[in-house]
Parts: sequence; C-alpha cells; structure tokens
Amino acid sequence: MILVGPPGAGKGTQAARLLETYGIPHISTGDMLRGAVNDGTELGRKADSYMRQGHLVPDTVVIGMVVERISKPDATSGFMLDGFPRTRRQAEALDRALREAEVTLDAVVLIEVPNSLIVDRITGRRSDPETGTIYHLEFNPPPAEILPRVVQRKDDTEVACVARLKKYHSETAPIVPFYESKGILVKVDGVGAPDEVAERIRHALD
Ligand code: AP5
Repeated sequence: MILVGPPGAGKGTQAARLLETYGIPHISTGDMLRGAVNDGTELGRKADSYMRQGHLVPDTVVIGMVVERISKPDATSGFMLDGFPRTRRQAEALDRALREAEVTLDAVVLIEVPNSLIVDRITGRRSDPETGTIYHLEFNPPPAEILPRVVQRKDDTEVACVARLKKYHSETAPIVPFYESKGILVKVDGVGAPDEVAERIRHALD
C-alpha cells in the first residue's frame, strides 16, 4: 500500500500505527534520504540542498533507491510506502517495477488535511532521535524526560513548508487520479485525533 498526502498530513504518524496492525515494513523516502544526509553518503550530499529548500529530489535518484528497497526480503509479504511516488514519473516507474515483480498494489490511502492546518503541524513537529517517535509541541507534546533531546527537521521552517506544499499540489496531487482510475484509491479525512484517523484508515482498508 501507499500513503499519500500533503506535508504534515500525518503519513508518518499513521504509518507507526498501521505498522502494528498490518506488520509490514514502513518505507519512507523522506526517512531514507535524511538517513543518507546524516551518514554523509554521495546520495545524501546530492539530496541535502533540495530537501532544505523544500524541493523534490530528482526522480532518477529516488526511483532507484525505492526499487532496490522494495526488493529486499522483508518486503516480500507487503510494504507501506510513505512519500513515494511523488510525481507522475515516479508513479509510472513504480508501476513498471511492481509489474515485473508480479506484485499488486492493494490500496493507495490519501490522507486529506486542509492547507490551513499544515504550517502549524509542520513548524511544531519534533522527533525523538533515539526512537524516531514523532511529536508535536502542542498537539502531542513529548514527555518531560524526552523533551531535552527532541530535534526539529531542517525543512520544517515556514518558508520550506510553503514550498513543499506548493510542490505537493503541482507534482504529487496530480498522481491521485492515476490511482483513482485503477480503483484502489481510499480517501480518509486526516483531521481529528491521530488514533481516530488511524481507525478511519483501518476501517476503509478492511
Ligand atoms: P517527507 O519526509 O516525505 O516529508 P513530507 O511528505 O513533506 O511529509 P512529512 O514527513 O512532513 O509529514 P507527514 O505527513 O509524515 O506528517 P507527520 O506524521 O510527521 O519528505 C521530505 C523531503 O524529502 C521532501 O520535501 C523532498 O525534498 C524529499 N523527498 C522525499 N520523498 C521524495 C520523493 N519520492 N521524491 C523526491 N523527493 C523526495 O505529522 C506532522 C506533524 O503533525 C507532527 O508533529 C505530528 O505529531 C502532527 N500530527 C500528525 N497527525 C496529527 C493529527 N491527526 N492531529 C494533529 N496533529 C497531528
């Protein structure tokens, strides 16, 4: 399955919950790219400046990374893609790779959140570098003992967030009809408590 939605829609938050339900790996291209930046690899050096500015990393870089990841043994009984595909070209490349591997997509979950809520969600996000848990300073505050070690993403500024949102609407939202035409698109309201949203997704998938 694929999780799609604007920045801050709650894809990572929901993936953590769905992981418990479906027991399939959560494959986030954002997390993979941030890992490469932190490790200082060639891929990370290429990706860093695009990400800081809220631009998309070139398709050629990302497609190869995902195709390789979904061919790993832990993905043979299913996987949950988060943040990929993000362009029509990525969607078509994924389609080809899945066809060659004789894998069928079960669902594409679109988490819908209005633009007006996005900047607050993004600028208040903090994560725990030890566990990867995502928090929000106001909506889901980290416990006092974790607060001193939480970090903010470099692209979680208001300026980068606005750029990311524009890219979402110009590049990513147009892939939604591609999956709608295949009859596997599931639209879920992403406004409400995270557990409520998770329940809506499970209900829609079941
Ligand atoms: P990526 O990491 O994928 O970022 P994104 O799509 O912008 O999504 P986010 O991670 O910001 O948000 P999310 O939907 O996961 O929300 P979260 O659950 O954290 O990509 C980053 C960058 O990498 C891109 O800009 C690009 O440069 C590059 N990249 C990645 N993939 C690429 C690709 N395929 N091609 C090219 N480039 C690529 O929640 C956000 C906040 O809201 C949290 O604080 C959370 O606690 C809070 N929250 C969540 N749910 C709720 C709720 N229901 N109510 C209130 N608050 C909530």
